[in-house]
Amino acid sequence: MIGLPDYVFRLRQQNDAVDCSNKHGLIVGGTRGLGAAAAERLAGLGASITIVGRTAEAGRLVLENCRARSPNSTAAMFNMITGDLSLLAEVDRIASDVADLCQTRKVGIDFVVFTAGCYGSSAGWTMLSSTTRTSEDIDYWFSLLYLSRHLLIQRILPLLELSTAACVVNVFRAGSRASLDLNNLGLSGKGNLETISSIGLYIDAMTISLAQMHNSIEFYHLGAGPMVPYPVVENTTQLPALAWLARTLQPWLYAQSPLASEAAEAVVSLTVEPHRAVSRSGALMSYRLECVPPTQFIQSPDTLERIWQYTKSLLSHRGFNGLR
Ligand SMILES: NC(=O)c1ccc[n+]([C@@H]2O[C@H](COP(=O)([O-])OP(=O)(O)OC[C@H]3O[C@@H](n4cnc5c(N)ncnc54)[C@H](OP(=O)(O)O)[C@@H]3O)[C@@H](O)[C@H]2O)c1
Repeated sequence: MIGLPDYVFRLRQQNDAVDCSNKHGLIVGGTRGLGAAAAERLAGLGASITIVGRTAEAGRLVLENCRARSPNSTAAMFNMITGDLSLLAEVDRIASDVADLCQTRKVGIDFVVFTAGCYGSSAGWTMLSSTTRTSEDIDYWFSLLYLSRHLLIQRILPLLELSTAACVVNVFRAGSRASLDLNNLGLSGKGNLETISSIGLYIDAMTISLAQMHNSIEFYHLGAGPMVPYPVVENTTQLPALAWLARTLQPWLYAQSPLASEAAEAVVSLTVEPHRAVSRSGALMSYRLECVPPTQFIQSPDTLERIWQYTKSLLSHRGFNGLR
């Protein structure tokens, strides 16, 4: 196809040959951007899709597109669950809604894709603000991009275990940073910029740990975009010079980033045919599906254990027990 990068063309051809008509996927962040593109593409391959996001109207349009593209729109189901993923109580409720839906429809979950919130800015975040706390008194980004994913995966593990080839794809910056301060895993005293740039490592650790603990499910961390959350930088009001620089660099930054429809091919490839991925479960991948080697720090059993225990105690302190 003219204009498509080679790797997208190749992935698209491979993906076109896949039949997803017996699969049900959950796209967390499916109302816009990459999540919406992946939802529609997977629906086009026959999958049933449930999307999660806050905006019902945007979700309705995505579901309409899913239905229009589906080769088996009478048998496939398309649903949306609304909720704010930055709040753990909401995540818990979303997980219950997903379980109810699956029970009613007598299906499990074959794949989960997390994209929600990676681009930032929707909460009016600015680079220099100290931190943004949720009403549950947790850092907004830490909660939305890391804790909510952890909790939701934990809650739907039984549904994933019903599938013969379940796969979880976490989209964020895979393997992007060298290390963390293990004595300050709560990132206390860190600003938004530091927090956001650390979250990729927490998701690396979660991916590797979950893959080690759950053999029947494939876990991947996919870095599907640019390393800089540039719309956020652009919206910075406190640093006009930085905002100007971000705007100036934007064409170049965009040129380094795949379009949503292109990145969706990597997501589709990992979710529906995980065995085709060039690596094993627990791998960190680029949007071209090349392996991003994990840093020595993140591979260390001590690091993985400390992050796991920290997460477990944080969630259990808030009444969410049973991390496994
Ligand atoms: N967009 C692109 O063209 C593109 C291309 C290539 C790669 N990527 C990569 O894909 C990743 C995702 O980016 P994106 O563009 O899709 O946009 P995004 O703004 O990160 O995610 C948008 C999705 O997340 C949901 N969301 C955000 N905050 C939420 C919250 N608190 N609770 C519930 N849902 C929430 C949004 O739904 P609601 O607003 O309805 O809540 C929407 O469905 C990034 O890593 C990006 O680099 C994007």
